[in-house]
Amino acid sequence: MEEQNNNPPQNPPRRAIKSFVTRAGRMGTGQIKALAELGPKFVLPYQAERLDAEAIFGRKAPLVLEIGFGMGGATAEIAATLPDHDFIGCEVHEPGVGALLKLIDEKQIANIRIVQHDAVEVLRDMIGPELLAGVHIFFPDPWHKKRHNKRRLIQPEFVAKLVQHLAPGGYLHCATDWQPYAEQMLEVLSAEPHLLNTAAGYADKPAYRPLTKFENRGIKLGHGVWDLVFRKR
Ligand SMILES: C[S@@+](CC[C@H](N)C(=O)[O-])C[C@H]1O[C@@H](n2cnc3c(N)ncnc32)[C@H](O)[C@@H]1O
Repeated sequence: MEEQNNNPPQNPPRRAIKSFVTRAGRMGTGQIKALAELGPKFVLPYQAERLDAEAIFGRKAPLVLEIGFGMGGATAEIAATLPDHDFIGCEVHEPGVGALLKLIDEKQIANIRIVQHDAVEVLRDMIGPELLAGVHIFFPDPWHKKRHNKRRLIQPEFVAKLVQHLAPGGYLHCATDWQPYAEQMLEVLSAEPHLLNTAAGYADKPAYRPLTKFENRGIKLGHGVWDLVFRKR
């Protein structure tokens, strides 16, 4: 009889730690309609190939990447406020993609495209070096519990990769309402040798970032929000 090998494989594939968990979310009828009708125009498929922003937007404009746009409220407002910029928004949560498509339609926005995929892989595979004028990371999942902290996006390794895709002088704007994460962001970004803080510590909220309803409520209750704006040297 053949001997069975019950040893584990020598090099089991490592499961990458993700900054999100995929949740099943209910899609509203408006979101479903927006996905079907506007998805083909505004959603770019994830592919392991550099995207050609000039061909996609039909012009040469500063390109901003947003990581984790949620329901896209801030994304749509910023894109409408800054029509001379183009925006690529990444979000893994499908109802959020539907919600942003709805806003794109309602506000007749032309300067946003969406990739429904892990932004870490989008950045690695689709965004060329020194391509981005800016990166927005607003209220990334705080992963409160100590054992989950490793899932936080803002970590030295990821930031080192991210800066390679920023054009010289390009900016990274993060915001959070969780103080321990704000402190981690300040520490990690300050230690990245290619980045320079635009403020002495935390920054004033730049005018283009709208206050969300949730944030407004928090501020009234005395909760803090911390913005950080760093530039590539
Ligand atoms: C706490 S929510 C904040 C959403 C939005 N920025 C806001 O301010 O309301 C964080 C979002 O980031 C998304 N997210 C987390 N990691 C991501 C990743 N690696 N790629 C794309 N989206 C991600 C999550 O699905 C979630 O919708």
